[in-house]
Parts: sequence; structure tokens; C-alpha cells
Amino acid sequence: MARCLVTGGAGFIGSHLTDQLLADGHEVIVIDSLLLGKREFVNEKASFQEMDIREFSKMLPLCNGIDVIFHLAADPRLPLSIEDPQETHAVNVTGTLNVLDAARQAGVKKVIITSSAAVYGDEPLPISEDMVPRPKSPYGMHKHMDEQYARLFHDLYGLETVSLRYFNVYGPRKLANGGYPMVIPVFLEQQKKGQPLTITGDGNQTRDYVHVSDVVRANILAWQSDVHSGEPINIANGVQTSVNEIATLIGGEKTYISERKGEVRFMQANISKAKELLGWEPTVELADGIAELKKTWNIA
Ligand SMILES: NC(=O)c1ccc[n+]([C@@H]2O[C@H](COP(=O)([O-])OP(=O)(O)OC[C@H]3O[C@@H](n4cnc5c(N)ncnc54)[C@H](O)[C@@H]3O)[C@@H](O)[C@H]2O)c1
Repeated sequence: MARCLVTGGAGFIGSHLTDQLLADGHEVIVIDSLLLGKREFVNEKASFQEMDIREFSKMLPLCNGIDVIFHLAADPRLPLSIEDPQETHAVNVTGTLNVLDAARQAGVKKVIITSSAAVYGDEPLPISEDMVPRPKSPYGMHKHMDEQYARLFHDLYGLETVSLRYFNVYGPRKLANGGYPMVIPVFLEQQKKGQPLTITGDGNQTRDYVHVSDVVRANILAWQSDVHSGEPINIANGVQTSVNEIATLIGGEKTYISERKGEVRFMQANISKAKELLGWEPTVELADGIAELKKTWNIA
């Protein structure tokens, strides 16, 4: 049994990871400011600390005796990062530096850093990790800087780190009005209310959608693997799907609205590095994941 610390464990992905770690018999401490997460998402078997990762003096004692940190806390609101790059930088970059430095000072063995496909610009597909990051938003830049800190903390201090670059994560508990803007819960909510599905731009833009259960497994494999020197690894299904195709899978009337700034047009990951280094492969196909969500939303 290990002692695990999950930052952002009241959020969408962090709460699923907490559930799995507890199911595997580990002890879990969750840190979350509840900026975007929900107290009721935190498994009652976890020890919960309502706290801001920017508060280093509170962070450090919580890291004593911890074996691994899964660092998911962030302000993932990409549009907000364009409006207010400084506020989001403080959480996404200074907060990550605090987590890494607390881990170093407390002697934690390994930290799994949460990065994002937002580090990439418009690149030829499928995008692999050796492409030079060229973020199109402050949020993407924050995640790029987090990866650089993770690598540096390994090289300079010997802290074991891995950076997982998630593409678009979906699944239960992903809220329409939650942190990272995501078309699937927005469309599900609109469908449920009998409203038209609001497609941004022409709807031909694509994303690579990965189910939260596969992301949870990638985190656990990254912890248990020999990968330790800050390597960035894509976590995605390796398939691109357009917004129009998502709308068809969910069903309902469509309406077209203006596109968002700071986003790339097409996304599809090369996932061979995750297969090679972690032995990880996605297991949930998008059509099945959406069908399951429609059932929970009682949508025919
Ligand atoms: N959902 C996606 O598609 C996606 C894609 C790429 C990367 N990510 C990254 O995955 C991680 C988890 O994202 P999510 O989708 O679960 O989002 P989320 O908003 O549900 O979770 C983030 C959590 O961090 C907490 N938080 C925010 N600021 C904090 C602070 N200062 N101190 C402590 N806690 C704080 C929030 O309250 C929330 O519970 C984030 O790092 C995000 O950038 C998500």
C-alpha cells in the first residue's frame, strides 16, 4: 500500500483517479481549493484538505511521508487564461513549482505532472512528442512551463517526474460549466433541455477524445513505470473526431456560433510513446463512451 497525494482531487479527472487508487488499496490525501471541483466528488475514504496549491507553507507538511504525487490541480479555463494570463499563471505555473518543490523537500519519490495537448500549435497530424511545443494560449504555455520544471527537477534534484499530455478527456462528472471547455457535456446538457446543439465555427475542427477511465490507468502506469526523467507522453485515443460528428453521435438540432480564440483547428495524437514506455493503450471507443453517457443522462 502506498501513500498517494492527489492535487485537484475534487475535480473531474482527479476524483476518478482518487477512486481507483483507493480501490487498489492505497491511502489517498486529496488537496483541492474547490475553485472548480466539488466536495461531493471526493471519495469519503480519502483524507480531504481544502487548500490552495499556491500556499507553499501548507503544502510542504502534507508531502511528508508521501510516496507519489499526482498533480492535477490547475485552472484549466483556456479562455480565461487569454483574458487574465497572470492570475491563471499563478495557479498553473507557480502552483506546480510549489508542488515540485514541496515534493523535493519532503523526499517524495515521484510526481506525475498533468500537461495538455494545448502545448502544441497547429502541427501536421498525428502529433508526436518530439514536435516543438508552440502553444496558442497562455494555458498551453503554462503547461509547457510545467513540463520544463518537471524535467529540471529531475535533472537538478533527482526527483522522478513524468508529464502526461492529455488530449480531450470526457466521461462521468465532466460538467458543462466546469473548468476545461468541452463540447460533449455541453451538447448533452443542451440535448437534455431540448435546446439546439451550439457548434462553434463550421464544426469541422477535430479533437482526439479519451475516456477518463483510460486517463486514470495512464496515471497509475506512469507512476509504476521506470519512466522518471520528466518525459512528456501523449494520452489520447489516436483518433480525430469533428464537432459535427460529436453532434451526430449525441443527436438533436444544431446551430452554428462564432469560433473560440486560442485553439488549434485539428488534433490527433500519435500514441506510440505511451504504448512503448507505459504499456498503455486506450480501451474505450468514443461511440461507446458517449452511448454510456447518454444512458446516465437518460437521453434516448
Ligand atoms: N479535461 C480535459 O480534457 C483536460 C485536458 C488536458 C489537460 N487537463 C488537465 O487535467 C487536470 C484536471 O482537469 P479536469 O478536467 O479534471 O479539471 P477540473 O477543473 O475538474 O479539476 C481541476 C481541479 O483543480 C482545482 N484547483 C484549481 N485551482 C486550484 C488551486 N489553486 N489549488 C488547489 N486546487 C485547485 C479545482 O477546484 C478542480 O477541482 C488539469 O491540470 C487540466 O489542466 C484536462
